[in-house]
Amino acid sequence: MTKNKFYITTPIYYVNDTPHIGHAYTTILADVLARFHRAMGDDVFFLTGLDEHGQKVQQAAEKRGLTAQAHCDDLAPRFSGLWERLGISNDDFIRTTQPRHVKVVQAILEAVYAKGDIYQKEYEGLYSVAEERFITEKEAESGQFREVKKIQEKNWFFKMSAYQDRLVRYIEENPGFIRPEHRKNEMLGFLRQPLGDLCISRPKSRLNWGIEIPFDRDYVTYVWFDALINYITAPGYLSDEAKFRRWWPVSVHLIGKDILTTHCVYWTTMLFALDLPLPATIFAHGWWLTGESKMSKSAGNVVDPLDIASQYGVDALRYYLMAEMVLGADSNFTPENFIKRYNSDLANDFGNLLNRVSGLIGKYFDGIVPAPLEPSADDQLIMAQGRALGGLVSGLLKEYKVDAAINAIMNLVRAVNKYMEVQAPWKLAKTDLPAAGRVLYTATEALRLAAALLGAVIPEKSAEALDVLGARGTGFEWGGLRSGTRLAVHPPLFPRIEIVPVNVVPKA
Ligand code: ME8
Ligand code: MG
Repeated sequence: MTKNKFYITTPIYYVNDTPHIGHAYTTILADVLARFHRAMGDDVFFLTGLDEHGQKVQQAAEKRGLTAQAHCDDLAPRFSGLWERLGISNDDFIRTTQPRHVKVVQAILEAVYAKGDIYQKEYEGLYSVAEERFITEKEAESGQFREVKKIQEKNWFFKMSAYQDRLVRYIEENPGFIRPEHRKNEMLGFLRQPLGDLCISRPKSRLNWGIEIPFDRDYVTYVWFDALINYITAPGYLSDEAKFRRWWPVSVHLIGKDILTTHCVYWTTMLFALDLPLPATIFAHGWWLTGESKMSKSAGNVVDPLDIASQYGVDALRYYLMAEMVLGADSNFTPENFIKRYNSDLANDFGNLLNRVSGLIGKYFDGIVPAPLEPSADDQLIMAQGRALGGLVSGLLKEYKVDAAINAIMNLVRAVNKYMEVQAPWKLAKTDLPAAGRVLYTATEALRLAAALLGAVIPEKSAEALDVLGARGTGFEWGGLRSGTRLAVHPPLFPRIEIVPVNVVPKA
């Protein structure tokens, strides 16, 4: 049987500052999906990286009195180090200053130029320094663009307009291409206006931190034309044909809604020009807000994921971000919310269940998993929920409903906690020990299944829980727990947070 392939990407983040919760969110989300697909036996390629060229990065470097490259080299480990700390299982980490990428960008420029899709013209227009692109009058009026100025200069343009009709048709004929649905409609709305051509050069007199245009050395490449290409550089475009054939087209580009147009319009038309197939899916999630506004470096209201991770644990952070945000909508990050969800889901529902079953098995069965015996009607209800769970979770994740998938798993955990209350195996043990054993087997097996299915979200704690149960790698089917297994002694998985200290005050 051939394995399914799953190629997933995050945006490559600008190295103008250290990463915050927003960047951690997209990267963790990609990691959860990558881990889940690996667990399902798929062949996975998971790519993240850094966008190192352009004005923003050059300005950030200047502010620090460093050369742009020194600045990038200094900041890159803060990203890769954070990803390591957060348990991110990426297969590659691309930096756009790497020679492998520069080569591909220049080869693509040559090819598209030779094809006649790149031309030069004098241009006058409004330019947003903050967004690093020319904007329309209408966009300028919207007030959403910062640092807008009028610029007149000769530049190189990519004939994006030539592909407009083809793109509209493609979006309409491929319903799963841009997700969620309302983002697709937003793009179709945008494409009802005539599409201009894309200015893909910056004169070196204005900006020199970029990839030189190979056929005109007075210019560097516009940072987006450079950056988007990372998605094909990494899987081997123009360098490793077999590898590239194996991975392209990408299964999903995960992005925030802030970069929808660049991905759905710039990138797709570039791919048309290159005669390459389009991504299977571009999925845009919403924003983490602090209060009313988007958490962002420029707004100065960011929360540092390292603070949360060191205070409450990596998995607590991963769990919160994944469970809290309904994919596609915005979410508010507050310390109160974080602690509330931690205590209710992780400490009370999940962590406590492990304490309870292992405590009772310790007390009444010398720490050895009892036999399941003949299931009662109540056991069968839990078993039915457990048997359906793997398929349910897998289906939800394929629809990018991560919060709903987690909730489905937690529903089983909550049902088992209720079942324990009702069955009261601590009472049963005094009158009917085998019946108490049956109840504890059912409860512990449900817990095992929940822990296994949460493995993609909370990999460390899931492994810890499974180790206590002697059940690593036992899969997503009901019945993986072996009676006769000796349970390991362990500290609480998620100790309750009693105080509200918190280092998570927005940093100025
Ligand atoms: O745009 N909430 O890089 P970037 C949720 N280099 N997600 C957020 C977020 C928030 N408040 N803030 C950032 C760039 N993100 C380009 C990308 S790709 C070829 C080039 C996440 O550093 C989200 O994924 O500004 C968003 O799209 C991305 O970080 C933007 O990161
Ligand atoms: Mg940004």
